[in-house]
Amino acid sequence: MSDLLVAAGLVKSFGAVSAADNVSISIPRGERVSLIGSNGAGKTTFVNMVTGYMKPDRGTIRFDDRDITALGPRAVTKLGVARSFQIPQLAKELTVLENMLVAAAAGEGRLSPIAPARSAERRDKAHALLARFRLQDLAERRVAELAGGVRKLLDIAMALTGRPKLLLLDEPTSGVAAQEKFPMMDTIVEALDRDALTVLFVEHDMEIVERYAQRVIAFYSGRVIADGPPRETIDDEQVRKYVTGTQKAGHR
Ligand SMILES: Nc1ncnc2c1ncn2[C@@H]1O[C@H](COP(=O)(O)OP(=O)(O)O)[C@@H](O)[C@H]1O
Ligand SMILES: [Mg+2]
Repeated sequence: MSDLLVAAGLVKSFGAVSAADNVSISIPRGERVSLIGSNGAGKTTFVNMVTGYMKPDRGTIRFDDRDITALGPRAVTKLGVARSFQIPQLAKELTVLENMLVAAAAGEGRLSPIAPARSAERRDKAHALLARFRLQDLAERRVAELAGGVRKLLDIAMALTGRPKLLLLDEPTSGVAAQEKFPMMDTIVEALDRDALTVLFVEHDMEIVERYAQRVIAFYSGRVIADGPPRETIDDEQVRKYVTGTQKAGHR
């Protein structure tokens, strides 16, 4: 079967800054891939181009055997690409369930979450998704009352209301307490594996990367400097120099 995502020769500049410098990445269906790189390396730019938020200056993006290079975010979402944000985009005064219903309605192109058509069905689906993320007991709570980790889980659950094929997560564990990180990632991965969803996640924590990614792609200065199995990529000399800062000291 062909790859789900094929980005070829992507170039994106902001003035003198090269945020993508000939980036080519192919992702097979069902793979869980981590994107790593120091601040400003071009990770979010790549995510923005794949999700239609930014147009590459050059290059092409194919998704599910279609050219999506020129499509905007709504069209890309409709084809099955979903994302979560580094800072969750939630309506804080609404409840957890209401946020899910808004996301589901938005995915269907409706403006109002209380449009009567199919609302019962949508509600059932929302509850089922919340249960997958172990959020069912919080359904009636207002988002403003929730801890950061729970908000992140909700943001991801919301991204799944449109039944995407590809999910992009920008730093799912950033701002989450150290002891919450592994349980949270366990919950996310368990929830996503049920649909054999293809996942790209930006992550800074190498413990998380090593434990949860099947493949790791390292960025530096808008370029892919390593792409391979987690241990191999993390141990790569360039990655140690430009990403993790764990380069071995030279001999005297
Ligand atoms: N909208 C933008 N306008 C101007 N410069 C940007 C914009 N988005 C990203 N950049 C620049 O592009 C480079 C890559 O940024 P980004 O993709 O956000 O990196 P990362 O997510 O790896 O930290 C950085 O130098 C950043 O300042
Ligand atoms: Mg970023």
